[in-house]
Amino acid sequence: MSDKLEDIAKAMVQPGQGILAADESTGTIKKRFDSINVESTEDSRRDYREMLFRAEDAMKNHISGVILFDETLRQKAKDGTPLVDLIKAAGAVPGIKVDAGAQDMVGGKGIEKVTEGLDGLRGRLKEYHQLGARFAKWRSVITIADGMPSHNCVHANAHGLARYAALCQENGIVPIVEPEVLMDGDNSSHTIEQCYGVTEWALNEVFRELYFAGVNLEGIILKPNMVIAGQKCPTQASAAQVAEQTLKCLKATVPTTVPGIAFLSGGQNDTAATEHLSLMNAAGGLPWALTFSYGRALQAAALKAWSGKSENVAAAQGAFGHRAKMNGKAALGQWNNGLENAA
Ligand code: 13P
Repeated sequence: MSDKLEDIAKAMVQPGQGILAADESTGTIKKRFDSINVESTEDSRRDYREMLFRAEDAMKNHISGVILFDETLRQKAKDGTPLVDLIKAAGAVPGIKVDAGAQDMVGGKGIEKVTEGLDGLRGRLKEYHQLGARFAKWRSVITIADGMPSHNCVHANAHGLARYAALCQENGIVPIVEPEVLMDGDNSSHTIEQCYGVTEWALNEVFRELYFAGVNLEGIILKPNMVIAGQKCPTQASAAQVAEQTLKCLKATVPTTVPGIAFLSGGQNDTAATEHLSLMNAAGGLPWALTFSYGRALQAAALKAWSGKSENVAAAQGAFGHRAKMNGKAALGQWNNGLENAA
């Protein structure tokens, strides 16, 4: 595997493949495990993730990269093989979440957040590179609410993303740049039009800050939300509208030098996330690769099927394999209901 940022980025968005976001922080994975009544321990987290990374069909054929949490990057499988080596053996690129989470912003009324984690980041990136990570992720979140987002929130988060991205590239690591306009949460009754406006604003701000920070756009992957109505909005847009508005927004804001865009799922149900991606790719004529970097929309079915029991590993791997395959098809614009429902 080449060490060039441009080559790593291209490998992460190769045709028909996408990224598995398995970088839930200790708090978030506990919430996921609570939903299946499994205690979150170092071993149970290891077992769950080992199950995913050993899902051969999914990992070899549909997953080009895996985002890990710090603990997982250092963890070994039950038989002593480093989990990173399982990922590499499957032909996928290991990556690492490096932000320290979204914290309350001063003046943000407990709603607006700014992502922290720049202190000491250069040193951490050097270590992560030694441990095998070749890309990183930093997520900032923007909430749509009354009078929000503020300029301060959009700007501070874009600035943080740009400083993070520049540090990653300095250390041979491809930054996934993730400015997420949230569709869930308590203040999510926004329309698709409001989501369009805020997403356009956030992306413009991000690319301006990336430019000022001297970031090489050919060596990044953008991870945006889709343009979609908030989960609690009474008027929900059709799948065709989501695809059309998202493409329109991205074409208006994302330079064509960016090699790839890998969406987050953000709380969309599994098949909606797949269908939207497929419709966009089917539209054709796109200047960048368009794929997935899903967490929940790739893992929800597998998590449920697993339920913490070793006898369920094969079924869980099957559930993960199915979603990975469906999203792989979507990355080619070839997903349809018939495939979704085939045994
Ligand atoms: P979801 O697909 O569950 O939104 O997670 C993707 C991710 O990595 C968010 O940072």
